[in-house]
Order: sequence, then structure tokens, then C-alpha cells
Amino acid sequence: MILFKHPKDITTFIVNQSIERNSIGFVPTMGALHNGHISLIQTARAENELVIASIFVNPTQFTEQSDFEKYPSSIEADIFNLEKAGCDMLFLPTVADMYPNGSLPSRQYDLGRLDSILEAEFRPGHFQGVCQVVQRLLDIVAPGKLYLGQKDFQQCMVLKKMISLLDIDTSIIICPTQRETDGLAMSSRNSRLTPAEREKATYLFRAMQSIQEKLREGDLAQLQRNAQEILTKQGFKVEYVAIANAHTLEIIQNWDGKSALVALVAAYINEVRLIDNLLLNPPLQ
Ligand code: PAJ
Repeated sequence: MILFKHPKDITTFIVNQSIERNSIGFVPTMGALHNGHISLIQTARAENELVIASIFVNPTQFTEQSDFEKYPSSIEADIFNLEKAGCDMLFLPTVADMYPNGSLPSRQYDLGRLDSILEAEFRPGHFQGVCQVVQRLLDIVAPGKLYLGQKDFQQCMVLKKMISLLDIDTSIIICPTQRETDGLAMSSRNSRLTPAEREKATYLFRAMQSIQEKLREGDLAQLQRNAQEILTKQGFKVEYVAIANAHTLEIIQNWDGKSALVALVAAYINEVRLIDNLLLNPPLQ
């Protein structure tokens, strides 16, 4: 695996080797890699001639400075695991490399309601920062395909919207959420949980399953409330439990029994904020 630190070195390499855009699969990450990230690398490996990953903890997408500072890092293990999964190139820039003119955003992305609901309501500015960094990464790497995890459902929708707004020639491939055997979605933040918190964390998935099991046409308010209660009883501080249209993220109160639904949750266990989601009926086409 070749390691690049400076944006211009990647660009020069790609140009000198005459690598075509369509042969590049790209997996952006913030490091502290687990099997969820690695599954994206494996999917990209199977579908592209060249697989590029990036590790960059992007300061502009954090709403809490302390969350940014506490973000876990395991660079040596990450390099080992990327190489093992068949990644060809790793881009490892510094903040100065990524934002040579300072990290203040030079533009505002018009994300519509995606920028005010659910994650955006509780993390204002988060998706503007995600768009800022991913636009910059796509400029540097110029991939034909961008691999994202369903784990960050709203992020996938936001980046689809950004790519279409800016007319970028990259397609998005959404890969399924990888879970521990007890259902907990893999996340870099899980490493911050104490053993007792880790045990409780599995209720996030159970709460969404409880919605899925009792899903019926009509009013969904009770299902939503029950799931919220399951979490509150376990000591979570719930930010949201929502049932939404899986294509538009419109919150659904009264279900027609047909449209594709997704349950989305965000909750704190003590200091650690976890998010998850579950497609409730047949998967998206
Ligand atoms: P990060 O949280 O490191 O996640 C990198 C990618 O891995 C994202 O596409 C995320 O959805 C995916 N991922 C995380 N956990 C997963 C799991 N359990 N199963 C499958 N995929 C999973 O998301 C970001 O970084 C950043 O916002 C980024 C896009 C890199 C921009 O800074």
C-alpha cells in the first residue's frame, strides 16, 4: 500500500500513471478503523482496479470540540488492516494540507430539510462540514465510485444531494451496516464505552427491532414512543427515535403500509453519543 500525505502527490501519481477515474474506488474515513470500515474497502476491492482510502479527522464537522479532541486514533493498526484488506493507497493529510486557506467554509451547501432534521437538528453545521471535506477529497482523488456505510444514513443522503448539486462525476455505493453479534452497530466510538455501557448499548438495536416487529399500517406514534421508553429505561439520554420514509427521510406518522421505512435513533450513554438505523420493510431498490 502506498501512503500519500500531500494532495498534489496523489494527483501527480494518478496523472502520471494515466489512471482512469472509472477505475478508482474511494473510501473516506476518520480512522480508528473497525470491520464496518473494512467491509467498505472489501466491497471497493471487488469492484475497482484501484482502491484508495483516506484517514482524516475533519475538525469542521464536529459540533463539540471535546468530541473532536477525544476522537480515537489507531493509525498503526489501521494501516495494517487496510493493507490486509487489499487497499492500494492511503491518503493521510494534515489539516493544513486539506484546508490551505483556512478551514472556514467558502460556500454553503443547499441541502434543504436534510440540513435541519434529525442529525442536523442536534449537530448544527455538521453536514456542512461533511460536504466541505468530502468535496475537497473528491477533488483530490477524483474517484468513479464513492463507498459509504448505511450506518450513517442521513450522511449518505446528504452526500448524494451534494454530488448532484455540484454535478460531480462520482457514483455513490451504499454498503450495509456491520454489527457485532449482539446487534450493536460497529462504530469507532464504541471503544469509549465501559463494559457496563457496552452491555446497554445493544438496546439501541433492540429498540429499532421492537418497531420492526410490531410494524402495522396506520398510526406509528405508539411504536415510536415504546422504542423511546426502552432506551430511557436503560438510562439512555435519547435525542431522537424517528420512523421516516427511507427515500426522503420525511417523518411518517401514519403509514400507508407500502412506502419504504427506516427507523433512526440517536442517544447518549453517559458521555458517548451513538447513532443507528434499520430499514424496516423490504430493502431500498
Ligand atoms: P467515519 O465515521 O470514519 O466512517 C467512514 C465510513 O465508514 C462512513 O461511510 C461510515 O458510514 C462507514 N461506517 C461506519 N461504521 C460502519 C458500520 N458499522 N458498517 C458499515 N459502514 C460503516 O463518516 C465519516 O467517517 C466522515 O463523516 C467522513 C465521510 C469520512 C467525512 O469526514
